[in-house]
Amino acid sequence: MHTTTEPVLRVSGLSARIGDLSLVRDVGFEVHRGRTLAVVGESGSGKSITAAAVMGILPPQIKAEGSVFFDGTELLGEPARRRRARGGAEIGYVFQEPMSALHPLLRIGTQMIRPLRHHLGLSRGEARDRALELLEQVGLGGERKVLDAYVHELSGGMRQRVMIAMAISCGPRLLLADEPTTALDPTVQQQILRLLVRLREELDLALVLISHDLGLVARYSDEVLVMYDGRVVEQGLTAQIIEQPAQPYTRALIDAAPRLGRRVDRLPTIDRAVLDQTRAMAGGV
Ligand SMILES: Nc1ncnc2c1ncn2[C@@H]1O[C@H](COP(=O)(O)OP(=O)(O)OP(=O)(O)O)[C@@H](O)[C@H]1O
Ligand SMILES: [Mg+2]
Repeated sequence: MHTTTEPVLRVSGLSARIGDLSLVRDVGFEVHRGRTLAVVGESGSGKSITAAAVMGILPPQIKAEGSVFFDGTELLGEPARRRRARGGAEIGYVFQEPMSALHPLLRIGTQMIRPLRHHLGLSRGEARDRALELLEQVGLGGERKVLDAYVHELSGGMRQRVMIAMAISCGPRLLLADEPTTALDPTVQQQILRLLVRLREELDLALVLISHDLGLVARYSDEVLVMYDGRVVEQGLTAQIIEQPAQPYTRALIDAAPRLGRRVDRLPTIDRAVLDQTRAMAGGV
């Protein structure tokens, strides 16, 4: 039995190593339904290794210890096949690079329909209908063609929307987005982050947003976890950390993000104005 205050994911004492080399040390955090945790830190600080340990997709030479407690079950040490099944359905994962995550030679529809049939047992027709619904949910509703397209025919933003549609397709309770916007231009970055937060609300997900850019993800997150050299150096409510970081490293991340130099509560306004202007220039709605 769970109470509503039980986190969807509780990671504690998580370490990952290759032989004697420690990649991640004693990482711990919780994520609740309907909340967003931003995991930030410079390149190589251990963000993706942490996410891969949660997903159960670490390369075999990397050994994880500690606890990854998901929705009442300890995942570390679960048989690999069980982990993989969860990875596809109960935990959604959005990769940094959709080009490497999507198959270049299969139509988008084929790639979307396969897990729907496998995990949810839908017929081909039902899975196709569901795929269309999902595309609509990620803002590709007017784009029936997307199902018949190949990944190289889509823009970067469309690819990432397809990845997100696939990540939510089997009704996950947790969504991990590892640098979901790094390859995109700034306006599209904001659109994708807004989409993730909207889906978190609509689907009552726990969302983990991984980024090296604290300035980008701060306004979309409730809490922040700051990683450095494989360790957690600071964590807490986003607003508090931006106002009063305890660690100089966090201060440096904030200073490196010019958008955070201003008052945090003004940022969404500035952003919306920029987006509206861009949309108006593009002649869109
Ligand atoms: N497959 C791997 N084999 C060996 N070492 C790895 C592997 N993947 C990552 N590492 C090492 O683990 C450490 C943490 O890497 P990780 O990929 O988690 O960093 P990150 O915070 O995600 O960085 P980035 O912002 O560049 O994505 C780094 O020292 C990295 O070199
Ligand atoms: Mg990474």
